[in-house]
Amino acid sequence: MKVPQLDLELLHEPIMDELRAAMDEIVRSGRFIGGEAVQAFETELAELIGVPYAAAVSNGTDALVAALQALGVGPGDEVLTTPFTFFATVASIVRLGAKPVFVDIDSETCGIKPERVYDYVDDGVINGKKVSEHHSEHTKVRAIVPVHLYGQCCEMDPILELADQFSLMVVEDAAQAILARYKDTPAGALGDAGCFSFYPSKNLGALGEGGAVVTKDEGVVEQIRQIRNHGQSEANVHPIVGGNYRLNALTCATLRVKLRHLTDWTLQRAEAAATYNSLFEEHQLLDDVILPRVARERVHNWHQYVIRVDQRDELRAYLVEQGIGVQVYYPIPAHLQASMKHLGYAPGDLPEAERTANEVLSLPLFPGINYDQQEYVVSSIKDFFDSHR
Ligand SMILES: Cc1ncc(COP(=O)(O)O)c(C=O)c1O
Repeated sequence: MKVPQLDLELLHEPIMDELRAAMDEIVRSGRFIGGEAVQAFETELAELIGVPYAAAVSNGTDALVAALQALGVGPGDEVLTTPFTFFATVASIVRLGAKPVFVDIDSETCGIKPERVYDYVDDGVINGKKVSEHHSEHTKVRAIVPVHLYGQCCEMDPILELADQFSLMVVEDAAQAILARYKDTPAGALGDAGCFSFYPSKNLGALGEGGAVVTKDEGVVEQIRQIRNHGQSEANVHPIVGGNYRLNALTCATLRVKLRHLTDWTLQRAEAAATYNSLFEEHQLLDDVILPRVARERVHNWHQYVIRVDQRDELRAYLVEQGIGVQVYYPIPAHLQASMKHLGYAPGDLPEAERTANEVLSLPLFPGINYDQQEYVVSSIKDFFDSHR
């Protein structure tokens, strides 16, 4: 048997007619940039997240760049974030000339640990507010970028309180977290802006690249609409420098189709996650494998089902041999990437992130995965541990 990491053919087959109809309409209209499809997608996305505004952009990376820029992050600013993320989070900060400051993660959610954020900011003066006698170097902290990794929200209340206390901006990297919730609030609606990716493998995946920023603030969305269109405020007038971060009409039209199915697909993911949980228990693997934990007051969207094991690389190789599509997200924390060397971090500086990066393994999970496929994955893991005891 073969079990892919993701099965997009299976996902798209039942909605091919809907997708074709949406594409036909755009091709007939001849309007490929902007227009009704883009606006309608933005309205529907904003409604889904429960915020007044959304701006569709070219991809999740540009969503982060545009949101940070709109919130005033620029050269010389410090932005606190996690080292345990897809590199785009960090690259977006660097692209604006700002400096990423890494804080360690919480092993339960794999998101930044609020206490570590306090550690950094609570011993200095931030944004003119004096906190202690001896620090002034932290006055440049401008924003926090929590990443809701794998589809589970970070512990947001303390982060939002701290941001409020020190006038810091919060840009949620919700690239993986569409329809995840923290205390009933959807990911993306918690901070000053929330950024989504519609990369094809995401829970809401485009037929190509795509992204969006959602926000409660009209001023912020206006800025982002300007930034995504080369900073243009009206024809040929460019008060700021942005980029070409527009999302095309064909992509928005097909995303609208997929949006209609997202809640159902998310439920199917949750069912598949529950099936994995019971299979691991039935196969008596709970001493060998740490299952994903859902923290208090969270709704997980099961973008990834991530187990943690000591012999990760051996297990991964074994499962690949058995025809099972497993992945490691992400093996090298950002603070140890060669391009971040100038920041001066060394191995051991962020121990929880480093340990996690050595242990995580994403199992196949997608809407429509069947019981036999999941049983095959878990019994193969059982075979691995039986032959390694
Ligand atoms: C956590 C995280 N941040 C940012 C991004 C960037 O999104 P994109 O690939 O759409 O640019 C992704 C997805 O790839 C991601 O998983």
